[in-house]
Amino acid sequence: MIERQSAGDDVVTLFVNAAQTVTCAGPARARRGAEMQDAGVQSDVGVAVQGDRIVDVAADAALRRRFPGAAEVDCDRGVLAPGFVDSHTHAVFGRGRYEEHELRATGVPYLEIARRGGGIHASVRDLRARSDDDLFACAVPRLQTLAAGGVTTVEIKSGYGLSVHDELRTLRVIGRLAAAGPLNIVPTCLGAHEVPLEYREQRDGRAAWIHCLTNELYPAVAAERLARFADVFCEPGVFTVPETRRLMESARHHGMALKLHADELHDGGAAALAVEMGATSADHLAAISLEGIAALAASGTVATLLPATMLFLGTGQQAPARAMIEAGAAIAVASDLNPGTSPLLSFPLVLTLAVSQLRLSASEAWIAATVNGAAALGLAGSTGQLRQGFRADIAVHAADDFRALPYWFGERLCRVAWAGGRACHPSL
Ligand code: NIG
Ligand code: FE
Repeated sequence: MIERQSAGDDVVTLFVNAAQTVTCAGPARARRGAEMQDAGVQSDVGVAVQGDRIVDVAADAALRRRFPGAAEVDCDRGVLAPGFVDSHTHAVFGRGRYEEHELRATGVPYLEIARRGGGIHASVRDLRARSDDDLFACAVPRLQTLAAGGVTTVEIKSGYGLSVHDELRTLRVIGRLAAAGPLNIVPTCLGAHEVPLEYREQRDGRAAWIHCLTNELYPAVAAERLARFADVFCEPGVFTVPETRRLMESARHHGMALKLHADELHDGGAAALAVEMGATSADHLAAISLEGIAALAASGTVATLLPATMLFLGTGQQAPARAMIEAGAAIAVASDLNPGTSPLLSFPLVLTLAVSQLRLSASEAWIAATVNGAAALGLAGSTGQLRQGFRADIAVHAADDFRALPYWFGERLCRVAWAGGRACHPSL
């Protein structure tokens, strides 16, 4: 199927013989409301790649005339599409948390497990005991599996270190994963994932941990340029809105753009805070209020929904995606890959859940997983579309209709994926 595994800088490669091409082409910004209905699906259109860029999108015959003698990838009458953007993961961790999965099934809530010292704290104990090489080795096959599902951009958060030393270590491992390529990795500092147990047990420990984040961790992250974004778990029982505002102000002062774990389990006004702070995205939002929806719809903040998390938690709750789209918000979807609430490595399943649980159309799900995922990472100008000048992040799926991706749930349809003009699946 593949004649060349990847293109050198000068070599042109054509992706041809697709049954359908999902271009997602349009404005280089988040699509909101009714704009999400158009995924730019076309027939008999191919893509030309040179170096790490798309240099043309046109009929196969036109591409062959313009680039005579170019190498070809035969899409074999499949679906040719932009690589998916997984804009919210916690992919660097050690072991799974099997015991909590069962405990929740008996009725113990997620936040109660954390209160007892499990949950995120269990992953913190585990991560601190592991070497950098071990953490790197744990993450690599996860990224390979995401790539095998057609993902070419992955945001990865720290947040299981919860000490300056272990947060920096995690972010350096994420930096190594980025340098190893070919996936486009976006690093986020989630030092404010929880109050670590050793602080929780101290008098004034919460304030001391927040002080440590703002006065030690964020400056150190900025000095080493380890993270593009900072994120905070803003939720009743974790960080309050005033605490989160302080953390976000400090992170912004240190040059990081902002994301927020917002209104995941209870409405605490976090979505409105994300908007107030100009966050690039507000994520989760399963418990968002009507005021929160209105605030997001009137803002440039992308609403990133994580339907696999709510499914895995088993509470029957999902974000009110239709109300958000109808209000005019921009929706992205992502895996939330993490050991507690979403041990999910198959990104196309997120599209299935977007349709079946969030009630998006297939076109809306595709836009949410490409253009809007890129916008949630500040990358909408370069990523998420099959369009001249955009990054050559491309996937070929063994299906003759783009709606097959959300439909055949749990199936592996991706045959080929390239990130930045280099093959990432099948891996070399
Ligand atoms: O996005 N909600 C907070 N953080 C993660 C879960 C982290 C964990 O339980 O390990 C999430 O769901
Ligand atoms: Fe998360």
